Amino acid sequence: MSMLGGSAIAALADSSSLIVHSARPQDLETPVHLLTTWITPNDAFYIRSHFYTPAIDAQTWQLPVDGDVARPLALTLDAIRRMPSRDVPVTLECAGNGRGNYDPPVAGVQWRRGAVGNARWTGVPLADVLRKAGLEPSAKFIWIDGADTGLGRAPDFIRSVPIDKVLRGDVLLAYAMNGEPLPLAHGFPLRVIVPGWEGAYCVKWVNHITASDHDHPGPFVSASYRIPRRPVPPGSVVNAADTVPIRGLVVKSIITSPADGAALMPGQAATISGFAWSGEYAIRTVEVSIDGGRSWAFARLGDDHAPHAWRQFTLPWRPRDPGSRVLLSRATDVRGRRQPLAADWNPGGYLFNAVDSVRVNVGEELAASPSHHPSDPYAPIAAVTPQDEAAAELLKTRCTICHATDLIDAQRLDANGWQRELTKMTGWGAQLSPSERDLLIDYLIRR
Ligand code: HEC
Repeated sequence: MSMLGGSAIAALADSSSLIVHSARPQDLETPVHLLTTWITPNDAFYIRSHFYTPAIDAQTWQLPVDGDVARPLALTLDAIRRMPSRDVPVTLECAGNGRGNYDPPVAGVQWRRGAVGNARWTGVPLADVLRKAGLEPSAKFIWIDGADTGLGRAPDFIRSVPIDKVLRGDVLLAYAMNGEPLPLAHGFPLRVIVPGWEGAYCVKWVNHITASDHDHPGPFVSASYRIPRRPVPPGSVVNAADTVPIRGLVVKSIITSPADGAALMPGQAATISGFAWSGEYAIRTVEVSIDGGRSWAFARLGDDHAPHAWRQFTLPWRPRDPGSRVLLSRATDVRGRRQPLAADWNPGGYLFNAVDSVRVNVGEELAASPSHHPSDPYAPIAAVTPQDEAAAELLKTRCTICHATDLIDAQRLDANGWQRELTKMTGWGAQLSPSERDLLIDYLIRR
């Protein structure tokens, strides 16, 4: 499948209100003040891509369904659209949403709060497609591949869903998002929706489904999207054998209004609002604090709800006295799981779900508060010494072959972290001699 470079991104200009973490591959975050409605509009929905957006020809596109099935299929888009369909609201969240808050920092897109959204997906249950193909009892995992392919020597992005989740019937092969044909950035022509589980299961541009008696051996199953079996000390290096796959989002809430750093007038009515979700489980309560956690009040939950969709919450507030205030939100789900004060650190930077906070100023006499987010991921790399210039040149000639420096600039890694990252990148095809590698690391940690 051929790749679209700059032209595919130009065609996605309607996502221009999103925060660009990486322009190519495309990793775009929703600024949370745009999350105002239960259904997130398509052009405000976050975008996560491991590799370049593929070019898709809907006319020739087909979906092979093979492996442990009695009757391998090759379905056209029309054949899929003719099957009985379902229409379900599902909240998608990137497993790395909130990674930018972890300390010590970990490699990866430094998402803040907005790699999450809720859309209505229309499609056919994957279980129905597998039944049509005569799924064999030996099948334990369903492997899902999309039309994107790895860059350089990077492996193809393939994910694997355990059969019991698929046979529960709620895993969809979706061809529409909020009533529109699936946009290319969101996986046209077909995207798997695995309700309640992290976004990484929701493979885009699906073009191959394989039933297998074992889990997929690729690194996006065996190394990524896994967390330590037990909480580990921050900064630990954890063996893959001591990890378990993430299978489900955790309880979480975010305050989307007022915005962090907002100025409010004393005596004026305001509404504290946001969203709460807990993967496969419903939200029972959301508590909000207007005094940094000294006291809590129950927020009102919105009327819109669905089994795998977030719940809006609101709490009216009329701030009386001037001053700087920390507003907090914490959700509890029907199992009694509640957001922690501090999230468990893990080497992949996944599932950040600490109690959310925004700082607001009541009254005008206070200067706007600085953002509570730990670092500015958009600080440019400035080259000042000859060594810096040589390092900047290496970034330009050796790294930007595959992606721009935006993805690199945003990292907050130390020397060990960069050693691991450059081992990964040279494994994928980046060319660096040992001395160039040292020069680059020295530069990257001093920026
Ligand atoms: C052969 C292509 C290729 C080259 C060359 C390359 N990268 Fe990457 N890099 C990628 C891809 C693809 C991703 C995104 C992977 C993802 O999202 O899963 C990435 C992601 C990253 C990230 C984000 C963290 C992560 O691991 O996802 C950093 C940091 C990074 N690269 C640094 C570098 C540096 C520094 C260089 C130059 C020495 C470099 N890369 C060269 C392909 C490459």
